[in-house]
Amino acid sequence: MAAKNILVTGGAGYIGSHTVLQLLQEGFCVVVVDNLDNSSEEAIRRVVQLAGDAGKNLSFAKVDLRDKEELNKVFASKKFDAVIHFAGLKAVGESVQKPLLYYNNNLVGTITLLEAMTAHGCKKLVFSSSATVYGWPKQVPCTEELPLSAANPYGRTKLVIEDICRDIQKSDSEWKIILLRYFNPVGAHPSGCIGEDPHGTPNNLMPFIQQVAVGRRSALTVYGTDYSTKDGTGVRDYIHVVDLADGHIAALGKLFQDNCIGCEVYNLGTGKGTSVLEIVTAFEKASGKKIPLIMASRRPGDAEIVYASTEKAEHELKWRAKHGIMEMCRDQWNWASRNPWGYGSPESHS
Ligand code: NAD
Ligand code: WQD
Repeated sequence: MAAKNILVTGGAGYIGSHTVLQLLQEGFCVVVVDNLDNSSEEAIRRVVQLAGDAGKNLSFAKVDLRDKEELNKVFASKKFDAVIHFAGLKAVGESVQKPLLYYNNNLVGTITLLEAMTAHGCKKLVFSSSATVYGWPKQVPCTEELPLSAANPYGRTKLVIEDICRDIQKSDSEWKIILLRYFNPVGAHPSGCIGEDPHGTPNNLMPFIQQVAVGRRSALTVYGTDYSTKDGTGVRDYIHVVDLADGHIAALGKLFQDNCIGCEVYNLGTGKGTSVLEIVTAFEKASGKKIPLIMASRRPGDAEIVYASTEKAEHELKWRAKHGIMEMCRDQWNWASRNPWGYGSPESHS
């Protein structure tokens, strides 16, 4: 059987690059579309190297999804069997400061993509949604049926895109769509060659800890010590990025094998909650580095405890996360210590 062609938007980014590597290893042919707004082409080069022989099945187009003409050229170049759509801006705080940037990039980008898919008869999609759509959940673990809310413009783009997907599937039953709600992706490929390299000050916990450990920042600020949790700090469901990438392979399998699927949503998490202080302790153990802490008040908009119900993904996608917190920290440190400046250099980050 001929290898399936997958278009991956945002494939140069953190989760995208890990997923592209696994797609190549599973025998898929991949075209990445990315404008490199928050990533580097070096990630693509490293994925090609890591994939060995299968690296020849990857091509890259530096295209902004909102550029209809260029995007249509990509679709005209090949018949795609499915699209995995990672591309988007993801910094919560920035989305509050610049809502139009987020609505334009994430919503217009997605609509342009869906139009191009329709025009070229490609109607299978996996979309990167987020646990952010649960807001401050009324109960944990978060099941897929919980009420949804948006605490900021970034989260609202995820809610709207989920709705758009449900609407287009209702309007045309040929569409098969899987919405994956990721919890907190961390870690890196065990080779230490690819990992997360955020531009600017990291918003998320693990990249911040990593930059303290390599000496790029002096201390971690712990946001909130008075939550009703085991040690007073916020609790989240951290998931190894390699497990997350596997979840996308499982979702594609479902799209190709299940004729009855319409638009389905799955959580991708581990089902376990870990506090900020537990993460710091595990990272210190994995790296042998001391992480100085500044205890501070809560970060506005943060929930207290968020973790996933994993039952639906386990039953229907036959997927479950395999890595624990220590492996996440070990692989994060392996990436950080080999690449203290990510894909760049001290100059490129100044
Ligand atoms: P990332 O920033 O590393 O990757 C996103 C990629 O999309 C980047 O390479 C960026 O250059 C590209 N991109 C952005 N706008 C684009 C556009 N208009 N056209 C073309 N390319 C564009 O982020 P990530 O952590 O890999 O996240 C991937 C997806 O998963 C995003 O949609 C994000 O919202 C979602 N998500 C991430 C997390 C997380 O904590 N990392 C959690 C839940 C959901
Ligand atoms: C985790 C915990 C913080 C940084 C965000 C987005 C969500 C999703 C994942 C995309 C919290 C604490 C953090 C720091 C800290 N992304 N923290 N000091 O807030 O669960 O989710 O990323 O969809 O949409 O909102 O992740 O990594 O920012 O925070 O104490 O410097 O670490 O308060 O308890 P969060 P996070």
